[in-house]
Amino acid sequence: MANFDIFWAENGQKIKMRLLKMGDIQKARDFINACVVENLMLLMDKKITIQEEKKQVIGFIQKMEEGRGIYLVAEADKKIVGICSLERQPYRQNHIARFGIALLTGYQGIGIGTELAKRTLKLAKEMRGLEIIELSAFAINDKAIDFYKKLGFKEVARIPNYFKYDGKSVDGIVMHHKP
Ligand SMILES: CC(C)(COP(=O)(O)OP(=O)(O)OC[C@H]1O[C@@H](n2cnc3c(N)ncnc32)[C@H](O)[C@@H]1OP(=O)(O)O)[C@@H](O)C(=O)NCCC(=O)NCCS
Repeated sequence: MANFDIFWAENGQKIKMRLLKMGDIQKARDFINACVVENLMLLMDKKITIQEEKKQVIGFIQKMEEGRGIYLVAEADKKIVGICSLERQPYRQNHIARFGIALLTGYQGIGIGTELAKRTLKLAKEMRGLEIIELSAFAINDKAIDFYKKLGFKEVARIPNYFKYDGKSVDGIVMHHKP
């Protein structure tokens, strides 16, 4: 992938898409903490410190260097507004990679997620031996489930009480995509 790509969102906003880099620690932390404040339907529900984020970014960059991870960011207004990740699983699940995506609320619904996800899925084709791209979504997150179906993900399982959201149990929908 080139250093970065420019993409024009459906509202005409200029979006830069590129791989995560070491210089992103502060921006990535601001992004994650904003997702937590916005109470998005993601696994993460606690704000993180700069030290924690530094460790994470170092780990992510190492995974990318090993060809076992993809972390693609969307930047606008000088901040990270979206991240799409793909992480190869270890050992007897080495044929599987876990997919994740989130956009800040103010940047949803204007095509950025589709663009980030398509680029990540395209990069995944270069991962040798990969057979399954897997994700788990909150069963109540209709918008995300529709989004994934449009990308070609298929529901393969429903796991009861897989998440807690606002104190309530929520089922998980496991979806698969062929690389
Ligand atoms: C789910 C998410 C990644 C989709 O990305 P996005 O940039 O908002 O989506 P796009 O603008 O590319 O839209 C693609 C499709 O998603 C669905 N979608 C997007 N915004 C929607 C909205 N406001 N209401 C309903 N469906 C919506 C639609 O199916 C849409 O297709 P369409 O444009 O043909 O109607 C994004 O909204 C998000 O990050 N949400 C919060 C975090 C989250 O739920 N992540 C998934 C965790 S499993």
